[in-house]
Amino acid sequence: MLGQKRVLIGIGGGIAAYKVCDLISQLFQAGAEVRVILTETATEFITPLTVSTLSRHQVYRDLDFWRSTNPRPLHIELGEWSQILVIAPLTANTMAKLAHGIADNLLTNTVLASKSPILLAPAMNTEMWQQISVQKNWEILQENPRYHCIGPASGLLACDRFGTGRMAEPAEIKLFIASLLTTEGKKDLQGKQVLISAGGTREYLDPVRFLGNPATGKMGLALARAAVHRGATVTLICGPTQLDFSDSLNNIRFISVVSAAEMAREMFAVCDDADLIVMSAAVADVKPAEYSSTKLSKNSLPSQLPLDPVTDILAQLGDRKSERQILVGFAAQTGDIVKPAIEKLKKKRLDAIVANPVDRPNSGFGSDTNQAILIDSKGRQKQIEPRTKLALAHEIFNFIADL
Ligand code: CTP
Repeated sequence: MLGQKRVLIGIGGGIAAYKVCDLISQLFQAGAEVRVILTETATEFITPLTVSTLSRHQVYRDLDFWRSTNPRPLHIELGEWSQILVIAPLTANTMAKLAHGIADNLLTNTVLASKSPILLAPAMNTEMWQQISVQKNWEILQENPRYHCIGPASGLLACDRFGTGRMAEPAEIKLFIASLLTTEGKKDLQGKQVLISAGGTREYLDPVRFLGNPATGKMGLALARAAVHRGATVTLICGPTQLDFSDSLNNIRFISVVSAAEMAREMFAVCDDADLIVMSAAVADVKPAEYSSTKLSKNSLPSQLPLDPVTDILAQLGDRKSERQILVGFAAQTGDIVKPAIEKLKKKRLDAIVANPVDRPNSGFGSDTNQAILIDSKGRQKQIEPRTKLALAHEIFNFIADL
């Protein structure tokens, strides 16, 4: 998603500038071409040499802007060159300038001279962040379709306080950049409520044994990120997972569940508000008929396990779905993936289904990449070759946009 893409980064004067060095390195390693503008105050925190070494290119500063010997103005050159502009850390000062169209240095002039999407990653002390003037400027920028916003997160700040103001983590910013390069910054899910289920459920036999599956939640988290990056408000209901969701949760309402019954209860509690529901979770089909609240000894384990069916959440969502809702299911399959997926699509009254082969390399449970055949209720089919789960998530949202 990042290979050979032209990413322009504007670094503002804040301590989080040191974290942007890691972002530049990650982008370079992912194959992107990176150019960097340093504001004058940013040079108080990191050196031009650090940035030029990491980006493998000269760094641009206000000195280069005012004393340029190029026939074409530098802000126009850089503005036209960039496919995306990232401003990190975004200071209260630069935020105020952007909100009001002020251009008094290389970075703010380049913003006005470019057409590419702009990702803003603010970072500042909590008191500064909470100022009415800062919040008003932030609102203005969020309403502008050109700007995309990530963070700030809460945590320990450089001023030794715990509070809101930490810049989003470089890995999370990198994923947002990848999304914006894929969608060209369209916010087609702006104002939409998206409900996503993820991971696998566990059906416990006793406190230490359960029936489960290897789902990790990676596909569901990728769907949640992609939806947020396209402007949606997202609720993610996820089974037990080892994933560290903390960096991405800023814009995602996260509900953790264990069993299929819990997932069903949480899904049904919020589904009526959703415009789009994607059931990517690998939900149990059956559970042990009896649960022992104390651990069963080896000798008392039954040789055959009586099972009861569990609620088919997706089928029930299909039954209660309203006209305006779009319902998407997943079919994790081995062998022929299309025929069973079409049967599920019809049986559960879905608008679309993601037929997902789980018996191929680099695909399915736990993998960072995935592939699928997307099928809709009108009979359309689209094959998606292996790619990152985030890229597949965008393909799914592109596919259902026509619905
Ligand atoms: N699903 C659900 N509730 C369940 C089981 C599955 O909502 N109790 C959803 C999954 O989230 C997925 C889809 O249904 O979106 C998968 O369909 P399903 O028929 O359960 O697939 P399999 O369990 O693989 O069915 P089969 O074994 O019959 O192929």
